[in-house]
Amino acid sequence: MPEGGLQARLTADGSFSLFSDAVGEGFHSADGALAEARAKFVLPAGLERFAPGGTLQVVEVAVGTGTNTAALLEATRQRGLALSWWGLERDPEPLRLALADGGFRRQWPPEVLSQAEALGASDRLLWGDARTRLVDLPTALTGACDLVLLDAFSPRRSPELWTVEFLAGLARLLAPQGRLLTYCSAAAVRRALAEAGLQLAAIRAVAPHEEGAWSGGTVASPSPLASDGVLRGLSPMEREHMASRAGEPYRDPHGQAGAAEILAARARAQAVSGAESGSAWQRRLGGPRHHRRPRTEGMGGQEQDR
Ligand SMILES: C[S@@+](CC[C@H](N)C(=O)[O-])C[C@H]1O[C@@H](n2cnc3c(N)ncnc32)[C@H](O)[C@@H]1O
Repeated sequence: MPEGGLQARLTADGSFSLFSDAVGEGFHSADGALAEARAKFVLPAGLERFAPGGTLQVVEVAVGTGTNTAALLEATRQRGLALSWWGLERDPEPLRLALADGGFRRQWPPEVLSQAEALGASDRLLWGDARTRLVDLPTALTGACDLVLLDAFSPRRSPELWTVEFLAGLARLLAPQGRLLTYCSAAAVRRALAEAGLQLAAIRAVAPHEEGAWSGGTVASPSPLASDGVLRGLSPMEREHMASRAGEPYRDPHGQAGAAEILAARARAQAVSGAESGSAWQRRLGGPRHHRRPRTEGMGGQEQDR
C-alpha cells in the first residue's frame, strides 16, 4: 500500500531525499542521503573483497528512492563488478518522485542513472509487502547473496521489516561470506540477527551526530567479520545491551501483523522479561544517548531506537 504524503527535501550534503508524513520519518539521515548510502551500505559492503569482472548477487529491501541502488551501482561499476540485483519495495511513488527530480538525476553519472532506471522498471523489482514478496525471489538466491541491503524505516515506527521472522528470511539468502547491511544498531534487531545464526559487527560511527553513539549501523554474516577501518566487533557493552530488555526482538509469526500489533506484543514480552531494563542498563553503563540516525523530525528529546 503506498505511504502517501511524501515530501521532497534536500539533505545536508545537497542530495535528494523524502520525508514520509504517514510514518513521521525521513528516508535518510538529514546529514545526507548520498553520504549515508556510501557510509552505511557501500563501504561496509567490502567491495574490495571481489575480483574485478565478477558479478555480485544483491537483494535490496526497501528500495525507496533508489539512492542506495544507484550508489551501489556507481561503486561496483568503478570496480569493474556487475550486479545481479533484486529489490523489494511496497510503494512505487518514492522512486517515481526521485527519478522525476532534476537534482536527484544530476547526482549520478548518466550510465548509472540509466541502469538504475532500467532496474526500477524491470521485473527484478518486486512490488508489494516485502514480507510476502520475499518468497517470490528466485530460489537460486538462497544461500547465494553477496549483499542484502536493509533500509526500512526505524523499528519503533515500522517494526514489520525488523522481526525475527523476516530477518531470518533475509539471513537464509546470504552466501557463506555474504553480508547483510543496515544503518540500524538497535539491540532488538541485533539480537534477532544473532538468533538467525549470523555473526555481527558494528559499522564504525563517522557522522558528527553519531559522536557519543556507539555505532553507525550493523553488518551481519554467516561468517566471522574481521575488524577494519569500516567495521569493528561489538563491544561488551553492546552485547549487554542486546541481552537487556531493549534487546527483546520484534516478532510477527504470521508475517502480516501491523506495526501497532508487533509493538504491543513486544511490550508485553518486555514486561514479563527477567532481563535488565534498557534504561537501567543505560544508567549503569552510561550507554549512548542515541543509536540511530536522526531521520525523525519533531521528536524532541525522545529516545530514538534505531
Ligand atoms: C527509509 S525508506 C527507504 C530508503 C531507500 N533505501 C532510499 O534510498 O530511498 C523505507 C522504504 O520502505 C518501504 N516500505 C515500508 N514498509 C514496507 C514493507 N512492508 N514492504 C516493502 N517496503 C516497505 C517504504 O515505501 C519506503 O520506500
